[in-house]
Amino acid sequence: MSGALDGIERLLQAELRPGDRVAVEDPGWPRIGDLVTAIACGPSRSRSTRTVPSLTGWRRPCEQARAPSLSRRAGQNPTGAVIDPQRAAQIQAVLAAYPQVLAIEDDYIADIAGAPYAAVHGRSDRWAVVRSVSKVLGPDLRLATLAADPLTVSRIAGRQLLGPGWVSHLLQQTAATIFSDAATRGLLARAEHRYATRRAALVAALAERGIGSHGRSGLGVWIPVEEEAAINHAPSRYVLITYHRLFVWGSQQSYAEIFNSKPRL
Ligand SMILES: Cc1ncc(COP(=O)(O)O)c(C=O)c1O
Repeated sequence: MSGALDGIERLLQAELRPGDRVAVEDPGWPRIGDLVTAIACGPSRSRSTRTVPSLTGWRRPCEQARAPSLSRRAGQNPTGAVIDPQRAAQIQAVLAAYPQVLAIEDDYIADIAGAPYAAVHGRSDRWAVVRSVSKVLGPDLRLATLAADPLTVSRIAGRQLLGPGWVSHLLQQTAATIFSDAATRGLLARAEHRYATRRAALVAALAERGIGSHGRSGLGVWIPVEEEAAINHAPSRYVLITYHRLFVWGSQQSYAEIFNSKPRL
């Protein structure tokens, strides 16, 4: 696919019929909500807690949705929540009860997530995992892999043939060559470690000052704040700070998200 979002869009386009509902995480990456809205399906929003999504948070939208819950191994954007193997097994059990739901796993952060992958599919017939190379090799490659159940793959491949046909083999070969180089594995391991160290240091420094934050994995740290305006005065030379409103649909609580800048390796 030409990136994770392209994969998700193709999955939604292939799966949805008018009036279908899509469950997306809340808080979550705003472009996915925007994409769902653009495809003209009213999002039925699944709330995720700031550690891992609750099971009720998964069950309710599954009852309403024909398509997907959107999830990830770790590095949930924006909260940094992790789906560990135990939680993944619980979610698998929930999804198994809803065979109409195509569960889409958005593993956008892949090898530098800071936690191992635990699949939420395995007990359901309809599933798809999109894994982007944007964060690990570079966003300009516009490349992601998509694995899915046979019905989903045939729908996606058939539709793709009618449009672009395929994703450039030149790009695919470039990514495959970089990934198969032993030096790449070392660099990615160092990047993952560096992001984790910096994330933990920021969370600890904030805690020392009495400020609670969330940053179990991923590239960002999620901080509840009293006033978003306060963030305007925060030093931002080395980090990118964004506001909660972009990421949250349901909650009244204000948040700031601080993104790790690119670590020097
Ligand atoms: C949750 C999430 N999914 C997908 C993406 C983008 O992936 P891609 O560049 O492969 O479309 C991002 C980028 O930050 C993201 O945060």
